[in-house]
Amino acid sequence: MPGDADRERITLPDEDCAVLRDLMLAEEPRVVIEIGLAYGSSAVAIGEALHAIGVPGARHVIVDPFQNQFADAGWSALVAAGLADRCTLLRERSQLALPRLVQESLVADAAFVDGSHIFHNVFVDLVHLRELVRPGGLVVLDDCEWPSVATAVRYFERNTGWRAQAIDRPTRLRAFRLPDPRVEPSFDSFVPFGSDGTEP
Ligand SMILES: C[S@@+](CC[C@H](N)C(=O)[O-])C[C@H]1O[C@@H](n2cnc3c(N)ncnc32)[C@H](O)[C@@H]1O
Repeated sequence: MPGDADRERITLPDEDCAVLRDLMLAEEPRVVIEIGLAYGSSAVAIGEALHAIGVPGARHVIVDPFQNQFADAGWSALVAAGLADRCTLLRERSQLALPRLVQESLVADAAFVDGSHIFHNVFVDLVHLRELVRPGGLVVLDDCEWPSVATAVRYFERNTGWRAQAIDRPTRLRAFRLPDPRVEPSFDSFVPFGSDGTEP
């Protein structure tokens, strides 16, 4: 079982959890998809928001193939907080689980992305979340200060109409509002999306 230092390095800090909780409270989602459970701080924040909102049939779908490497700490935190009943944990790579959820016609109102930070994995997650999160819904990401994450999301901002939504206090989270209706870009209007703003 990883120690406290590992937990501090990996889990979403308390102040960002509070921001995430408030974003979800304002959004009033019925279905939330979360990628990356680890120690469960973000999952508990989302779960608390769903509990407070009290929408009947609310669902919190969590994807993480490596929860066993955290000795199920995240899942245990949800159970201890009494929030696990509406949660489904898919112990699979999100890049494989999300397309299946698309096939199953799952529709989410919001998503929180804090899984693999490798560019191609984040990009593929966002490709599928663009289909899973309803038009007008919200996608929140942690760690957009990393070029791999920032570059992935920039494609969707520049090419598919995602709009950065201001967050009214300091946080490392970033929130993006999806267009309604969904934007399907044409290949011939493709906008390059280098994270430093320079175009090839
Ligand atoms: C930064 S941690 C998430 C921290 C968590 N939000 C918290 O508050 O404790 C990243 C998580 O992503 C998971 N992860 C890594 N690769 C993944 C993948 N391909 N699909 C889904 N989750 C993945 C890891 O197992 C890890 O739990």
